[in-house]
Amino acid sequence: MTPRTPADTGPAAASGQLSRLRSPHLLSAADLTPEEVLLILDTAGAMREVGTRPIKKVPALRGKTVVNLFFEPSTRTRTSFEIAEKRLSADALNIAASGSSVVKGETLADTARNLEAMAPDIIVIRHQASGACHLLADICSSRIVNAGDGMHEHPTQALLDLLTIRDHKPDFARLKVAIIGDLLHSRVMRSNVRLLTMLGADVWVCGPPTMMPAGIELQGVTATSSIDAAVEGADVVMMLRIQLERMSGHFFPSLREYHELFGLSAARLARARPDVIVMHPGPLNRGVEIASEVADGPYSVILEQVSNGVALRMAVLYLIAGVSEGVD
Ligand code: CP
Repeated sequence: MTPRTPADTGPAAASGQLSRLRSPHLLSAADLTPEEVLLILDTAGAMREVGTRPIKKVPALRGKTVVNLFFEPSTRTRTSFEIAEKRLSADALNIAASGSSVVKGETLADTARNLEAMAPDIIVIRHQASGACHLLADICSSRIVNAGDGMHEHPTQALLDLLTIRDHKPDFARLKVAIIGDLLHSRVMRSNVRLLTMLGADVWVCGPPTMMPAGIELQGVTATSSIDAAVEGADVVMMLRIQLERMSGHFFPSLREYHELFGLSAARLARARPDVIVMHPGPLNRGVEIASEVADGPYSVILEQVSNGVALRMAVLYLIAGVSEGVD
């Protein structure tokens, strides 16, 4: 028996609502409308069921070639994309910068032109340069999915974060969400702010003044350097990793002092709502932005985020591939 594709059974499909994305690419959270965000979350909800089957596979992307082009290290994103592709029956292949001709000096544009010549259907790209995915979208006729570009955006991370939040707290418009840490270097923060404000959440961002992006209030958030004010009454506390690899100067005196002032301890978390959830995109700097007692504690949904990454990326790949093929 041929399994039905999950989206055939998804809530959006069942209700006859929106069933495809307008853009052939997912480069930024700004590409999405609120209806498209909900379509992706609903489709991911249906995709989760595939992961519970004895044979975790559907034929939705059979015959499609997906290239995972990763110029920066990744554990969660690269692995979950590959698992998602395999569960959708796509032909998935991985290219890491260290094993490619990039080490011989080939430019991103030339890499893109050469990949284009082999006609992949979808390219998933992570790159240290903001906008690298846009360059690929300009050069290639493949569909492009942004798996993190520099300090700009990480849209599939924010979407899986929304999926995780919705599992616990379905009405975004009633939530206070505190996003705390290295705001300046965080593509996760930028994508989350776009999506959470779009869905009506009361979003607070908190970090040292040296790491506060200029004009962040214009995104519709409350900005503060008081972690106690940010956590007070929060429904969701999302901690961000200190990104030492992106820092060219000194943004705080020491990691110990950073933890004292901006780290999430159990005592600090007590200011949040009793049913608060604690999130972190990973990888964790334990004892820096988050104490182990919190990361491993009863309010943490960090590993749920990782699990949801597979279903969410299945949904994105499925919907992106279906823009012209009419797979719904
Ligand atoms: N959250 C995230 O992007 O993790 P990785 O860097 O391991 O992919």
